[in-house]
Amino acid sequence: MDLNLNTDKKGNLNIGGADTHALAEEYGTPLYVLDEERIRENYQRIHQAFYNNYQDFKIFYACKANTNLAVLRILEKEGCSIDAVSPGEIYTALMAGFTPDRILYTGNNVTDEELKFALETGVRINLDSLSALERLVQLPGADGREISFRVNPRVGAGHHDHCITGGDLSKFGVMEEEAVNAYQKAMDLGLKPVGIHTHIGSGILDPEPFKLAVHTLMDTAGKVYRELGVQFEFIDFGGGMGIPYEPPESLLDIKKFSEEIVGLFKEKLYQYNMGNPTLCLEPGRYIVGDAAYLLTRVNTVKQSYRKFIGVDAGFNTLLRPTMYGSYHHIVLASDPLAEPTQNIDIAGNICESGDLFARDRPMPQISEGDLLAVLNAGAYAFSMSSQYNSRPRTAEVLVKNGKSDIIRERETFADLTAKQNLPARLL
Ligand code: LLP
Repeated sequence: MDLNLNTDKKGNLNIGGADTHALAEEYGTPLYVLDEERIRENYQRIHQAFYNNYQDFKIFYACKANTNLAVLRILEKEGCSIDAVSPGEIYTALMAGFTPDRILYTGNNVTDEELKFALETGVRINLDSLSALERLVQLPGADGREISFRVNPRVGAGHHDHCITGGDLSKFGVMEEEAVNAYQKAMDLGLKPVGIHTHIGSGILDPEPFKLAVHTLMDTAGKVYRELGVQFEFIDFGGGMGIPYEPPESLLDIKKFSEEIVGLFKEKLYQYNMGNPTLCLEPGRYIVGDAAYLLTRVNTVKQSYRKFIGVDAGFNTLLRPTMYGSYHHIVLASDPLAEPTQNIDIAGNICESGDLFARDRPMPQISEGDLLAVLNAGAYAFSMSSQYNSRPRTAEVLVKNGKSDIIRERETFADLTAKQNLPARLL
């Protein structure tokens, strides 16, 4: 695992050329710090890798990973498109400047209101069920609309059971064997199918299940084309490309991965004589995962039956360790490469025992007042944060060339009660 850590002359951790201690002083902690250049590099690396093998290639950034407007705007300027899974994500992407044709809406268990919103905004609609299809066509403006289907290729993968979205246990997509029927029905009901989609899971470092899904989806696409004559304008394999969180995990060899995926894709296009549709991917984590850090300050060193390092963030700020048991590397900002001298627990400030960032983690000497940086906190970090325990959500800053801008203000106590109303009888 390449820690990718930059330090100044004194050995302090820097992010995007900015000193983490200065950032913590200026904006307070806990604080999410996003590195603009890293976002651009990650996007370009995956884009180039695929583009070099197949020019008609598009990335739909899975914005659920991080919906900050600044992140979206950076990617909009890079030429990226958006994978949105809710009306709120559609709204946010539009606010960030994406035109509707650059937004693919993949809802699941959608309401009629959500479908109506998607129709009205003019985004591309990717259907997850026959129920959604039947309800969509009842709505004004549906006639003749371009649609695609998310197909469950009966293979799944992911870093945790919760993150596996293909296979027999998954709620997502239409079954492989009902795909032909679904496309037939869509046409009968006056829609225009233009795409096919899958997403098998998240946090995949082993290319094999991904390749299997590509194989299966292409066979399904080929079948739909042969039996119904549907000409696919795009074929979307979803996201899921993992990043290394824990040593000894290593980076996905994206060049090799793209060669293999595109090779398979082309082979199948040729086999079924399907022309040259746009190849789409929907990475979220790959683009933003390692581009942000969570800075949190140690306020308590406590020797109980175990030794605990207590910090000022909790699972309300970064849920992944508690929710999935995920490993996030944690370093001392004043000496990020310091050798470990002890095994300790790093605990958050939420009133639950599961609020641990690390258990029995080898760490160097840590004192109260020290600043810690939690790595790989760019994806599913702020976007999964909450106000649990009535803690206002934290701030986000974007750093580039040593300069920082606040891109989300820290919430205040007033935000905790802002949307609440007391019934008149209680006044
Ligand atoms: N496309 C669709 C339709 C998705 O549902 C997802 C993720 C993606 C793309 C992007 O997946 P990625 O490239 O980021 O792996 N909260 C979990 C991850 C849940 C992902 C849900 N869907 C975590 O913290 O690991």
